[in-house]
Amino acid sequence: MKQAIISDIHGNLAAFEAVLDDISKEKVDEIYCLGDIIGYGPDPRACLELAHRFPINLLGNHEEAVLMGAIGFNPKAKAAIDWTRDQLNLDSQPVEKNRQLWNFLGSLKRRHLDGEKLFVHGSPRDPTREYIFHQDWQDRKKMDEIFASPEGVRWKICFTGHTHFPGIFTQENTYRFYEPKAFNLQFNHENLPYRVIVNVGSVGQPRDGDYRASYVVLNGRNVQFKRIDYDVQRTIARFRACPELPEYLARRLEEGK
Ligand SMILES: [Fe+2]
Repeated sequence: MKQAIISDIHGNLAAFEAVLDDISKEKVDEIYCLGDIIGYGPDPRACLELAHRFPINLLGNHEEAVLMGAIGFNPKAKAAIDWTRDQLNLDSQPVEKNRQLWNFLGSLKRRHLDGEKLFVHGSPRDPTREYIFHQDWQDRKKMDEIFASPEGVRWKICFTGHTHFPGIFTQENTYRFYEPKAFNLQFNHENLPYRVIVNVGSVGQPRDGDYRASYVVLNGRNVQFKRIDYDVQRTIARFRACPELPEYLARRLEEGK
């Protein structure tokens, strides 16, 4: 079984289409999406319609905010959530179409377990909201608790998104974080004596200083990190057509920060 694992599209249609194009060349069997299809970006409807066909779609904190309210969001992110909610209620669209998008949002699950593989948006402890930042490998207590969660679930490898920063956390003698380039973009997780958390990065809003879309191909035991060039200016032009969205959200795409 070959799977593409994507996350954090954030309404960036140009990035999403470029990644789907690359995925079609990879000839994967399934696409899993770890959440945050929407929020920040200018094309929430089109991105939801594309993601709708994936067999696994998880709830991200931005979907949760659209559904339940943007609690704890900064003002720019909250403005984008309010705008996104309005976009899903457009009077110019058929009522049935709007309802389908809301039903899709309401159907998203918080985690998925497939044998020893756990899939979440945030962390094994809090699948929707908790961030595991790349520097957190130094926080032994936090990492101990995260790697031991959820109680009673025997996962060996966990796939996450949420921080928009790709890489791998390992549970060796001490915890470690490796950026993909540290292991030439791929590693084999067969028979590892410890658990591994894989952050697949972000399709639509990378924050590791590389503007290109990030995702992962899982082929048996092999995990491959990929970066995909896309037309950032196309997305920035779409932002400009939506004055309610803070311009800062568009500008950061060029730097991947
Ligand atoms: Fe996100």
